Amino acid sequence: MKRKKWYKLEDVEKLSVQERIDLTVDYVNPGMSKLFKILGFDRIWAVSAEGMYINLQNGRKILDMTGGNCVLGLGHNHPKILACRKKIAEEKRLELCKSFLSPYTAVLSANMANLLPGDLQYSFFCGSGAEAVEGALKLAQKHHGLQRNGIVYTDHSFHGKTHAAMSVSSMDDTRHNFQSLGHCYQVPYGDAQALEAFFRSRCSKETGKPDICAFILEVIHGTRLIFPPKGYLKEVREFCVKYDVLLIVDEIYTGFGRTGYWFAFEEENIIPDIVCYSKTFGGGKASIAGYTTRVPVFMKAYGRTDDSMIHSSTFSGMSEECATAIEAMNIMKDENLVEISRKLGKYLGQRLLALSEKYPGSIKDVRGRGLLWGVELKPMLYKMEPTIKKLFPSKASFLPVLTGVVALTELFHSYDILAYLGFTRRNLIVFSPSLIIEKEELDKAVDAIDKVLSSGWLTLGKKFISRYI
Ligand SMILES: Cc1ncc(COP(=O)(O)O)c(C=O)c1O
Repeated sequence: MKRKKWYKLEDVEKLSVQERIDLTVDYVNPGMSKLFKILGFDRIWAVSAEGMYINLQNGRKILDMTGGNCVLGLGHNHPKILACRKKIAEEKRLELCKSFLSPYTAVLSANMANLLPGDLQYSFFCGSGAEAVEGALKLAQKHHGLQRNGIVYTDHSFHGKTHAAMSVSSMDDTRHNFQSLGHCYQVPYGDAQALEAFFRSRCSKETGKPDICAFILEVIHGTRLIFPPKGYLKEVREFCVKYDVLLIVDEIYTGFGRTGYWFAFEEENIIPDIVCYSKTFGGGKASIAGYTTRVPVFMKAYGRTDDSMIHSSTFSGMSEECATAIEAMNIMKDENLVEISRKLGKYLGQRLLALSEKYPGSIKDVRGRGLLWGVELKPMLYKMEPTIKKLFPSKASFLPVLTGVVALTELFHSYDILAYLGFTRRNLIVFSPSLIIEKEELDKAVDAIDKVLSSGWLTLGKKFISRYI
């Protein structure tokens, strides 16, 4: 039943724990509240966050190893980001006006052209990663004169939850049986020959070209940490050129130093036709995403004045958001965060790999690049998994999920470490800390996993259950 209460901003901080829960259940999402309860996170909230740490209302200080799922490359509330936003506000800059050209958008775009290789030059900015993907897909169709509309994606991909982005995302867990758009075709990830065979199969006799405008790819499939074989990207680039198909690289998760490069595609020295990015781009404060595209691609699609406004959005180019992104990129450069990610990432990888040797019965795999690493756990009672799958096929994922949740909650509740689980691989514990992390903090997080695994699943399971009784 609806309450008849109108809140003021100052009421927010005064809410009791129960009021926060009740309002969420009644007005946001009751199912989501239950999930938070299972994790023991529903009665906890953050009063502030700074750098690598989140300060809870109960006085605990949590080491944030999530980096806001790759949003917080610069850490929480970086002082230069706060100062930049304060300056824009105090100077009462024109925030949003569609009647004049925006110098902030222009400079941000120029900087992105400078940062990216080759003739990647024209940028479009928007509010979310999925929106950047939508823009890139439309650009690809327009580039091909709306004559070749097919889009190819891989069976290990996540590009967002809006309709088109969902339609080129592989995971059933993301699609949830929603009807996807037509003209979207799936190929196996990491198999360039299969991609070429698919392009060939779609070629028309008249033009010799496929009815495909773009191939969209995550260089590293971020949410499950899956890496392609060496050389894949180079081959993909060649086949896209051969068949005149645009290569869209989605760096929303992996961009801005996360993998030890500014962008993960740089490891193979290729130049995509369109790059999508977001997350750390906004310095942890601005909701900003974007794409940058090569000159001939942009000019063919939107170069004519008549076509120049075909794709836009209301909040595209907000001054404060663009200014924040300009500042964020400068901080990345000034603080050498890409090099730090590569160096510290190597150390983190070594330490986690040593753990996998120590606990071969508990760890299935350790993998990562830069400051993006995952520890895939063997599901508890994994020897019983085949039997469970046979007896309860619909509950087949139960043990991996339980394993991930038990380990994650133990890290948080007993060791003050916040990590997260792979998006559709829940027994994968992911660390993607801010790039400002210190070596000692990495040690603290790895030592905590060590202690968790040394406890044994029986003890951990009992502790997990006792938190709810
Ligand atoms: C690779 C990738 N693409 C697209 C998206 C969608 O971004 P958003 O959630 O901002 O729409 C995500 C989000 O995590 C992502 O990881």
